[in-house]
Amino acid sequence: MEKFDVVIIGSGPGGYVAAIRAGQLGLKTAIVEKDKELGGTCLNIGCIPSKALLTSSDHFSFAQKEAGKHGIVIDQVTVDLNKMLQRKDKVVKTLTGGVRALMKTNKVTTLEGIGTITAPGKVSVKSSKGETQEVEAKHIIIATGSVPMELPFAKFDGQTIVSSTEALSFTEAPARLLVIGAGAIGLELGSVWSRLGSEVTVLEFLPRIALGFDLELANLLQRALTGQGMTFHLETKVSALKIENGHATATASKGGEELTFEADKVLVSVGRRPFSEGVGADKIGVEFDEKKRIKVDAHYRTNVEGVYAIGDVIAGPMLAHKAEEEGIACIETIAGKSGHVNYNVIPGIIYTNPELAGVGLTEDQAKEQGIEVRIGKFPFRANGRALANEDAEGMVKFVAEAKTDRILGAHILQHAASELIAEAASVMEFGGSSEDLGRTCHSHPTLSEAVKEAALAVEKRALHIVNR
Ligand code: NAI
Repeated sequence: MEKFDVVIIGSGPGGYVAAIRAGQLGLKTAIVEKDKELGGTCLNIGCIPSKALLTSSDHFSFAQKEAGKHGIVIDQVTVDLNKMLQRKDKVVKTLTGGVRALMKTNKVTTLEGIGTITAPGKVSVKSSKGETQEVEAKHIIIATGSVPMELPFAKFDGQTIVSSTEALSFTEAPARLLVIGAGAIGLELGSVWSRLGSEVTVLEFLPRIALGFDLELANLLQRALTGQGMTFHLETKVSALKIENGHATATASKGGEELTFEADKVLVSVGRRPFSEGVGADKIGVEFDEKKRIKVDAHYRTNVEGVYAIGDVIAGPMLAHKAEEEGIACIETIAGKSGHVNYNVIPGIIYTNPELAGVGLTEDQAKEQGIEVRIGKFPFRANGRALANEDAEGMVKFVAEAKTDRILGAHILQHAASELIAEAASVMEFGGSSEDLGRTCHSHPTLSEAVKEAALAVEKRALHIVNR
């Protein structure tokens, strides 16, 4: 029986990054994956394919609606959806192939099949051909991720009631797409199909979209998406979904009123749930919490010696980059180093246009925690580069601790918010203040100057602002 220092079950961003770090540190490592390709949800049916479609559909939207403002005349713009989907698949293939190459470079053994922990220190891998291989491991990391949550009255049928997986591969834009849940998935995939011609209606249970993000910016995003043609019904609870001849009728209640919605496809995006079926964690006595997440300590150790868990299968935001950091910290702990993750600085992004990004505390969260804060805001309509780009929607907002000026949170709504938020995250990781950021020289003309200006605005000294 082959013996490893570390066996990682699951090859998503948590698992495969942990494998790379283990290889770098000279640990004899194996990674077990049940799917054909490495990379997990993120690379195969999540972050990457959705960003490919978001970019393609954003270009289409630009050609249709924005190019004219730049004096570019495009007479007829049409979509070749097949080609768009093929490009997305090619991007995915390049990256999953890249992960395979990274495993080789780092001398990580890839085992194809379902990994089951049969006893502490022992993993059996059952391949799709039905062959079973047993391996021994000093340390086992469970990195099996999450799957889409279903509504009890609307089980996925893969045709009319679908999850994000199918909504990444519709062969034509549905005439009417109903989206249940206004979180990252609903807003991103709703945007894709709205841009490609679907009439998109979003039903959300809460009185707001994008829970967890700054409320003011989330409201601005809702206004922008409404302007792009999406319809929102907030405080709307779906209670039934009927399918007849491939069409759906949803019944929902909104403020005591009963509403019905007709649709050709329904995307259920009401969250994801941890996935650890078949791993055998329960059989060896690993403890789970009330949300069926594996319980771990600050070093990702479960209650069973030598068994660890990281990523979506444990508590915390279900984000690829959070899983990656946990994977690295977990391996470093195993290797006798002091790995840790700073959960106060995990950025979150919704890749709509404009993009909504946030890191750290929102103004409301700081208030709930009784922290006195000062707020600095700067709108992109006062930023030269944003105006030159014809992309002046949105703003930057800083939340700084009143007593120390330390930045506790940063929130950005802008076409390039996903890139801009990284600066704020870096400054926060170093415990920086709004003054530190405001005194840093930023290139001109760039969108990042708005980040500096918002930092200066904490002290009410933003430069390019009239009517302060
Ligand atoms: P989510 O948890 O972000 O949002 C789900 C929304 O559905 C919530 O606003 C909730 O109030 C609403 N909801 C729940 N039940 C409902 C009902 N019966 N009727 C109407 N509304 C209902 O979930 P989502 O968008 O499915 O994403 C799942 C996970 O994947 C999240 O943790 C998310 O952060 C992550 N993700 C992150 C992305 C990113 O970083 N860009 C992209 C896609 C997913």
